[in-house]
Amino acid sequence: MIAMVAQPGIQSHDLARVGEICKSIVDEVGKAFIGPPAITEALLTALVARGHVLIEGNPGVAKTTLVKAFSHTLGCNFRRVQFTPDLLPSDITGTYILDMRTNTFVLREGPVFCNVLLGDEINRAPAKTQSALLEAMQEHQVTIEGETKTLAEPFIVLATQNPIEQEGTYPLPEAQVDRFLIKLRMGYPEAADEKRMLATYDRPPPPVRAVVGPADVLAMQALAQDVYVAEELVEYILGLVQFTRKHPRVYLGASPRAALALMHASKGLALIRGRDYVLPDDIRSLAPLVLAHRILMTPDAELEGVSGSAVIVEAADKVAFRTPRR
Ligand SMILES: Nc1ncnc2c1ncn2[C@@H]1O[C@H](COP(=O)(O)OP(=O)(O)OP(=O)(O)O)[C@@H](O)[C@H]1O
Ligand SMILES: [Mg+2]
Repeated sequence: MIAMVAQPGIQSHDLARVGEICKSIVDEVGKAFIGPPAITEALLTALVARGHVLIEGNPGVAKTTLVKAFSHTLGCNFRRVQFTPDLLPSDITGTYILDMRTNTFVLREGPVFCNVLLGDEINRAPAKTQSALLEAMQEHQVTIEGETKTLAEPFIVLATQNPIEQEGTYPLPEAQVDRFLIKLRMGYPEAADEKRMLATYDRPPPPVRAVVGPADVLAMQALAQDVYVAEELVEYILGLVQFTRKHPRVYLGASPRAALALMHASKGLALIRGRDYVLPDDIRSLAPLVLAHRILMTPDAELEGVSGSAVIVEAADKVAFRTPRR
């Protein structure tokens, strides 16, 4: 069990324990999902930074397999919602039903009352239903029939979606995609991984074990807040964000909320990599996952297929930083 650290700075035994937990989670996820550990590392980063993750990829690249395996390792109250065109907001949040015995209305809580929510194929439900989830993600509370209910802690949403060009989907409103701390794009596996997958999943994979529980997750989240970010690195984050705002192909650059998101995520990544301070590399490796989905390209750039990711890669290349003294 990790002790909560009141004073700034993190004790070495806490760092070691986080390292052990993260390694076990990566190993457990690896039983069901074959792919780069960096993907599980991104999920862990969002978890400890109290953020949510959107995973985008073509059908059959193991999006659901990945998030189910990850959720099982957390040993938390886990719910899964398959988003469909007829899903209503109350199917997410809950609804009041009449209890015949007492003749009163009682709340039947929706799946959002959990610790880990898998929102599968989130872009198959209409905007109103998506909004119910996105609000819950931001506020950690929901309003049902005018009454506000607080959600459990920890609360993390792992959502999947197919690329928006596909038929029968409702793209998430651009202004709301930034409710997700991280957006991961999952492509086709490396040839060697795919070969190993074929050999391994000839038969059902072994069950994924729970490695932690809700209390451990909360403790790791508390530790992540105490990770140190040097002033030079705060300036580096600002430099990256400002680069997107000045870029000629960008219509709407990264917001202050995006800058904050990058800082929180970097602290999370530093922690799970076993440090109590952020390095420039944490920021650089996370920038595409945290910033790319928060900027809008000009129509011309969109037509030419210049993506937000390309701008972030360029930013990481061109924006200089002062090395922190530590
Ligand atoms: N990298 C991989 N590691 C493990 N299993 C894989 C991998 N790629 C594909 N699979 C297998 O392919 C099948 C499809 O995976 P899954 O249902 O998770 O895909 P998905 O991305 O959620 O697809 P969809 O978008 O249609 O929901 C599963 O049986 C899964 O085990
Ligand atoms: Mg799926």
